[in-house]
Amino acid sequence: MMIGLACIAAAAAGAAAQARPAPAAPLDEQQVRARADALLAQMTPDEKAAQIVTQFNMGIPGQEKAIDESVAKGIGSFLFVTDPKETNRLQRITVERSRLHIPLLFGFDVIHGWSTIFPVPIGQAASWDPAMIERNQAIAAAEARSAGIHWAFAPMVDIARDPRWGRIVEGAGEDPYLGSAVAAAQVRGFQGPRIGAPGHIIAGPKHFAGYGAALGGRDYDEVNLSDSELWNVYLPPFKAAVDAGAGNIMAAYMGLNGIPAAGNRWLLTDVLRKQWGFQGWVVSDANGVQSLQTHGFATDQADAAARAIGAGLDMEMAFAGPAFAKLPAAVAAGKVDQAQVDAAVRKVLEAKIRMGLFENPYVDEAGAAQLQRNPAHLEAARIAAERSAVLLRNEGALLPLDRAKLRSVAVIGGLADSPRDSNGPWVFKPTQPVLQSILQGIRTKLGNRTEVKYAPGVIIPKRVNASMIDSMNADLRRPEPKDDDSGIAEAVAAARSADVAVVVVGEPQGMIGEMASRSTFDLPGRQQDLLDAVVATGKPVVVLLLNGRPLDLKGTKAQAILDLWYPGSSGGDAAANLLFGDAVPGGKLPFTWVRNAAQVPLIYAHLTSHDAGHADTRYSNESNAPVYPFGYGLSYSTFAFSNLRLDRPQVAPGGAVTVSVDLRNTGARTADEVAQLYIHQRSGTAARPVRELEGFQRVTLKPGEVRTLTFKLGPQELRYWNAAVRDWVQDETTFDVAVGADSTVPFAGSFDVRRQ
Ligand code: NOJ
Repeated sequence: MMIGLACIAAAAAGAAAQARPAPAAPLDEQQVRARADALLAQMTPDEKAAQIVTQFNMGIPGQEKAIDESVAKGIGSFLFVTDPKETNRLQRITVERSRLHIPLLFGFDVIHGWSTIFPVPIGQAASWDPAMIERNQAIAAAEARSAGIHWAFAPMVDIARDPRWGRIVEGAGEDPYLGSAVAAAQVRGFQGPRIGAPGHIIAGPKHFAGYGAALGGRDYDEVNLSDSELWNVYLPPFKAAVDAGAGNIMAAYMGLNGIPAAGNRWLLTDVLRKQWGFQGWVVSDANGVQSLQTHGFATDQADAAARAIGAGLDMEMAFAGPAFAKLPAAVAAGKVDQAQVDAAVRKVLEAKIRMGLFENPYVDEAGAAQLQRNPAHLEAARIAAERSAVLLRNEGALLPLDRAKLRSVAVIGGLADSPRDSNGPWVFKPTQPVLQSILQGIRTKLGNRTEVKYAPGVIIPKRVNASMIDSMNADLRRPEPKDDDSGIAEAVAAARSADVAVVVVGEPQGMIGEMASRSTFDLPGRQQDLLDAVVATGKPVVVLLLNGRPLDLKGTKAQAILDLWYPGSSGGDAAANLLFGDAVPGGKLPFTWVRNAAQVPLIYAHLTSHDAGHADTRYSNESNAPVYPFGYGLSYSTFAFSNLRLDRPQVAPGGAVTVSVDLRNTGARTADEVAQLYIHQRSGTAARPVRELEGFQRVTLKPGEVRTLTFKLGPQELRYWNAAVRDWVQDETTFDVAVGADSTVPFAGSFDVRRQ
């Protein structure tokens, strides 16, 4: 299952190249700037304001003429146009009819695929495989680019430590080290070697910054973060994305410590541009400038526009009536500095120039269809789904199932036969996503030799999600069914008459994502009753989970639990390969799997605080330990770590230590292990977490194979933001080191940081 990645990437790149016009030669910085300035000098105040708005008003009946007119006047960009015919048509209007012929920029939520849907981002993060994530986003970029898209509203790099928050599914979980690696990989995948690389699109990491810390996990709620949490936890993935060359950043909706992000000069200018040297443009979230007034921050829409542009926000994303339309008057009235508007316009023009849009504004419509149905892309999606899966339980080595011995399999649960749910959120009908259900994959794998009995059991509520996702998927809207357990008896009968039951449960895709926070992790509807009834038959039960957050399975006694996340377009094939041993799970949890919503927040990298010898009694009524720790995941093989060693016992501040460890595959199958390196700073000028991830490697080993893995710990890994001195510091102290299979591995070595 590990072979073929290079071929897939090459096939994707090849197909992408055929589908596009020849790229322009890359320009150097000065040439880009000179061209942007030459255009800027010709622009009227209204043209400038229009250039820094990205609008959503497509598909509104009766608006077509108004849209075409605004395009002819020189509007700058659109979101949510997905048909290559339409991107070309609009592009033609602006290129041929607008006064300055400045091409349009098309942006879209390319989150985990376009037509080929990859596992949801939290699932891809569970692969702990940044190189694979990079390849996946390169494929998503190629497909999107073929439709005329130039810019992804992605990656979402928000750290999420509260799984009530629905958008945990869109990020890399709770850890800043893993989150940074995944963020940088996604930026590289989307953008390729440079902005404007053929078949690639601009990445827009979001939501700057702190959105994942929404109070109570409630979407869009306020965020209050300490200086230490902000710098040590929430900002690092953004910094990694900027360092990877991200061309755009999206400002968050909410306020950070009381200052709305879209008007937060400290965040957008002092940190992002001055400290980090960000060169691209900052866009608001949808209607985020207008809502500065709703926040009780701006007095009116003109003030909102002035405060946003003054803070360093370059482009407004707006669904109608943008606040930035008021900029010309505000400049004329002396309320906004012309230079600020010009700087914003220049950055947007520079992006268009770098993307080569002035030379190649159109896409090849026939090529787009071909590229978006590329079998190599589906193969990459299958590998991604296999590598993302996390085996949470496997009692009695129930998995993998032996096909040769099975006469019949009962597949149970409505989610098993719901390809739209398998694809997860942030999947849009107009991009013609490829669909495959879990049931389909199992049936295809088993053919006629093994009987597959399918019983949905209970009807799962399809929550109507009010976010943008559903506004593009109107067909998903339907009334919620009444609780119904009438199918449980049929499911139980199917399980009784089969050799094994595969029960697919989880949250339908509308229950996770934007505007999909939940105050419980219980299985929606009557799925728990269904699962319990099937387990009570005494038949072997494998649970397959579709989820983007931890779920409370009420201590189910099912023998095996395999987390598939929302596995995407090839999710059925991947599930079947994993079930029957043609692929071996090797993913690891990117978050702490809490017992229930009342335990939130619970993270592995917590501070010791006051202990009093009762580390596990912080609740009086139950353990404060999670169900599964961060980094956890089993395999069909077994592994042993040994012989952890350091190349020196002491280093000076600024120096580096090399950590080595031997990893052996002690089982009988070729399989993957994710070696995770954790450190603990024993003392210092601030208290530091009990452990922190500072390195990882996913490796494939044959049975009996031993590999020595090495990790480097230098200043980047050993420093932290000290809230008292408001700077990065490296303390002179002792560090404990551990390398192992999850975040519970005991420390096995230490070294000192001291001036010699
Ligand atoms: C709002 C979401 O917060 C953001 O992530 C998304 O990119 C925009 N809507 C556009 O869909």
